[in-house]
Amino acid sequence: MKAQIQQLLEQTVSSLKAAALIPVELEPRIQVDNTKDKAHGDLATNLAMLLAKPAGKNPRELAQLIIEHLPASTLVARAEIAGPGFINFFLDSAWLAKQIEAIAASPKAEVKAAAPAQTIVLDYSAPNVAKEMAVHHIRSTVIGDAVTRTMEFLGHHVIRANHIGDWGTQFGMLIAYLEKVQNEQASELELSDLEAFYREAKKHYDEDEVFAERARGYVVKLQGGDEYCRAMWKKLVDITMAQNQIIYDRLNVSLSEKDVMGESLYNPMLRTVVEDLQAKGLAVESEGALVVYLDEIKGKDGEAMAVIIQKRDGGFLYATTDIACAKYRVETLKADRVLYFIDSRQHQHLQQAWMIARKAGYVPEQVSLEHHAFGMMLGKDGKPFKTRTGGTVKLSELLDEAELRAGALIAEKSADLPEAEKAKVIHAVAMGAVKYADLSKNRTTDYIFDWDNMLTFEGNTAPYLQYAYTRIQSIFRRVGDEAQPGPVQITAPAEETLAQKLLQFNDVVHNVAQKGMPHLLCTYLYELSGCFMSFYEACPINKEGVTAAEKGSRLTLCQATAKTLTLGLSLLGIETLERM
Ligand code: ARG
Repeated sequence: MKAQIQQLLEQTVSSLKAAALIPVELEPRIQVDNTKDKAHGDLATNLAMLLAKPAGKNPRELAQLIIEHLPASTLVARAEIAGPGFINFFLDSAWLAKQIEAIAASPKAEVKAAAPAQTIVLDYSAPNVAKEMAVHHIRSTVIGDAVTRTMEFLGHHVIRANHIGDWGTQFGMLIAYLEKVQNEQASELELSDLEAFYREAKKHYDEDEVFAERARGYVVKLQGGDEYCRAMWKKLVDITMAQNQIIYDRLNVSLSEKDVMGESLYNPMLRTVVEDLQAKGLAVESEGALVVYLDEIKGKDGEAMAVIIQKRDGGFLYATTDIACAKYRVETLKADRVLYFIDSRQHQHLQQAWMIARKAGYVPEQVSLEHHAFGMMLGKDGKPFKTRTGGTVKLSELLDEAELRAGALIAEKSADLPEAEKAKVIHAVAMGAVKYADLSKNRTTDYIFDWDNMLTFEGNTAPYLQYAYTRIQSIFRRVGDEAQPGPVQITAPAEETLAQKLLQFNDVVHNVAQKGMPHLLCTYLYELSGCFMSFYEACPINKEGVTAAEKGSRLTLCQATAKTLTLGLSLLGIETLERM
């Protein structure tokens, strides 16, 4: 909707130039916004105020000229000048009605494909091997997945990059401990508790010198490509990722084995990268280590920031990997954009790695590297989210609890559903609630994880939205064959408000892709449901005196709303149900 008005205004600017009413060199950034108050029309622009000064005109006068030169169109019923020089647009209700019919009929609810389609790499989830997924991993996983789905829906070529922590010196001790466990355990190894496994490995390493010696030897062997160490390493990766896959599947996150591009992938490239950085004069020796000095970033003492890329003992670092990784994503994967969904605490690390990659010419200016940071998940007390005894909350246990709580909620709400269906509803509500609680907050801030606020049918929650969808489906079931969706006629204010809200979906989805912020879509869906509830109250369907034409029109509005809701939720990775 905004885009169409924008187009009209672009044409207007051209004709004003052609008529020598404004200077030809002006290239204004035309902005169109939704109005807050319908008395001021549906959309508004500040174009006249923007152009007034450079055009040497009074803003209201220029607004008048713009209105006079607006090309004829079916979508604008009228345009008016307001205040110091705003232009308000009132949309034509016949045009609006046609758009709603199109949304109801189109599988993509009239969301336009991105043009041009880009190759976009999304780095998200990225858990560590032999560790349980931590709380920041659920944030990255869920937010990254929603943005990935949105990008794909818009027709971009999407590459999911699960940058798992599968390399580093800790693998020496992990291999040595895996070996020990295997020797002592007769049956097939089962590592259900990775957290305990890691802890034990570390304990042995710290307390047993013979074990530690063996572990250090294994690091060297693993790096040298030793077959036995390689196989043991692979086993650790596979066990971890099989456990994580259960979580991905449970959460309906679209990641799988083929998306794994862990740190180990870049390991063979590190030596060449470091040599190249040296040859380019970027990396220099300092106390036996190799360092890149970044004048642009000042350290605590005001000196240029020193980023170590190779240690004295020859080892490479997390930063070195991310330099090689950025290079790979641009040169090999041909990315136009790379989005990193990582904890805000890693911001400086990324800035440094990227600055070096750019200086070395690995990442041209037109490719954007974006850190989509997020805050922490906090408990109800405002402190980092922990178990009662202060340990990390296992994601699988969190999901178990969600199912339990959703079970209680559904038992109350949908007592008469058949058992098999009930189980499906519980699962969808539980996972939806947990994901949505994370997705609906502006991701840049910390957020409080509170069961009572997420597992409820009231307020901005997944169950509320899922229920809104189900309710529309039940309207259709009740109507049965008696009435069919028909041509839309917009008469009541509540119909107009709903229709206009529906038309914003396209802009919202594009905005989510642009900004990497799924909460924009959550807010939109919540508002849409609110508009629907008001509409349904004001414009009933199954009531005496409602004409067949009105019924048909209202059912089409229902259909367009249901489609938008289910589509919107699916972009967030949340299921909808026919009954609940
Ligand atoms: N494995 C890291 C962690 O657990 C996240 C990796 C993010 N991606 C990256 N390219 N550095 O914090």
